[in-house]
Amino acid sequence: MALSLADAALLRSQNLIDHQWRDAGLGRRLPVTDPATGETFASVADSDAGDARLAVDAAAAAFPAWSRRPARERAQLIKRWHALILAHQDDLARIISTEQGKPIHEARGEVQYGASYVEWFAEEATRICGDIVAEAVPGRKLLVLKEPVGVVAAITPWNFPLAMIARKIAPALAAGCTVVAKPAEDTPLTALALAWLAQQAGIPAGVLNMVTASREHTPDVVDAWLADSRVRKITFTGSTPVGKHLARESAATLKKLSLELGGNAPFIVFEDADLDAAVDGLMASKFRNGGQTCVCPNRVYVHDAVHDAFVERLAQRVGALHVGPATEEGAQIGPMINARAVDKIARHVEDAVARGARVVTGGKRVRTADGPHYYAPTVLIDATPAMELSCEETFGPVAPIFRFRDETDVIRDANDTPFGLAAYFYSNDIRRIWRVAQALETGMVGINEGAIAAEAAPFGGVKESGYGREGSRHGLDDYMHTKYLCQGQLG
Ligand code: SIN
Repeated sequence: MALSLADAALLRSQNLIDHQWRDAGLGRRLPVTDPATGETFASVADSDAGDARLAVDAAAAAFPAWSRRPARERAQLIKRWHALILAHQDDLARIISTEQGKPIHEARGEVQYGASYVEWFAEEATRICGDIVAEAVPGRKLLVLKEPVGVVAAITPWNFPLAMIARKIAPALAAGCTVVAKPAEDTPLTALALAWLAQQAGIPAGVLNMVTASREHTPDVVDAWLADSRVRKITFTGSTPVGKHLARESAATLKKLSLELGGNAPFIVFEDADLDAAVDGLMASKFRNGGQTCVCPNRVYVHDAVHDAFVERLAQRVGALHVGPATEEGAQIGPMINARAVDKIARHVEDAVARGARVVTGGKRVRTADGPHYYAPTVLIDATPAMELSCEETFGPVAPIFRFRDETDVIRDANDTPFGLAAYFYSNDIRRIWRVAQALETGMVGINEGAIAAEAAPFGGVKESGYGREGSRHGLDDYMHTKYLCQGQLG
């Protein structure tokens, strides 16, 4: 596969450390593969602990000057980065689609989505402010300052290769922090292109450093950052087991943490819902990125009274989705990220069917002219809590329908999971809306809405879905400390 871009300079294959593009110290390479086939089409640096430490050296050296730079200057540089991202959106979308398998129209949407965080945080940089507190004792002034935490390590997933890293780097830079970042091994090219654009925007040497590493060598990089007391914060999006590992290992140096971890989102359709709106909402949230989204519904609960009508409308829409090569205009479901992902989806569907679920549409692997790593968009009915797909994220285009009859029961079932990232429900009863929204144990709730993420909103979870928020003013706060000054002898 060839990746041809209008601006070939975006295609980087080395680490960015201290403004220099350099190979991994040991000279190792990480192959970048086409998700549809598993075939290699590019390669990047496969870094080790030495490269990770060099990145921290650069970030630590750059921190004093960057953090003291007036917020307006930081904001202007971040805005320039934003403008360059938009100017290169077609190329960036091609890179995303090619390395991750996201349909090209969604990849364009991801560039806009990621850029919206960059713009938002550029603007927020100039609004950082503390407090002057009424003095408790005469002759004293009590002041509260917000200060950047220091060097931030950002570790990002493959499912949104641009948006996830943008919404970590932008608030860090806006707050005055410097960054060492490691993108997912499956999708390093988008992140490196973003780093290149940041460099072109004039972000100074050492302020943003990026290293790439294979699945095998990622622990070397991350362990080096965990052990390094100069790294004051880790921001991570990924699995709950890895999040717990980061929390345990960063305890030795008590780093600040933001963890956006796994989900198991319920999507509830009550008997008083607008069914067409509910189908639209489920299509938007479940089948976005082929279902490879932490916030996408994993369990769809439909009230008995509207079950058959809902399933019929949903199955028609899902059956009509076009599965095809991600870079082909018109594709709606691209390849899954790799063979392991397709195997997991197939395993979940087989387990569900063996335990009594029925396939309404889909339910099988698909091979396109492009390669074998596709799965047909699927609707299952008669799903039960005993099935694997009810306890674990399927991370694929599968909507399992659970039938329910009672509001109390469905809330209990929706909350019966260690995870608490997102939940969705559809109802037109205003009292029920408040009752259910408050009863759901998640960090985010979509009410008659399937697309909930936005740069101005706090994104994040509760329970084993993690802590910390991304986006909104809360997302900036996560990169700052609160410092209290008490000045006496003023009376
Ligand atoms: C995620 O899958 O973690 C991010 C999804 C989003 O930002 O909407």
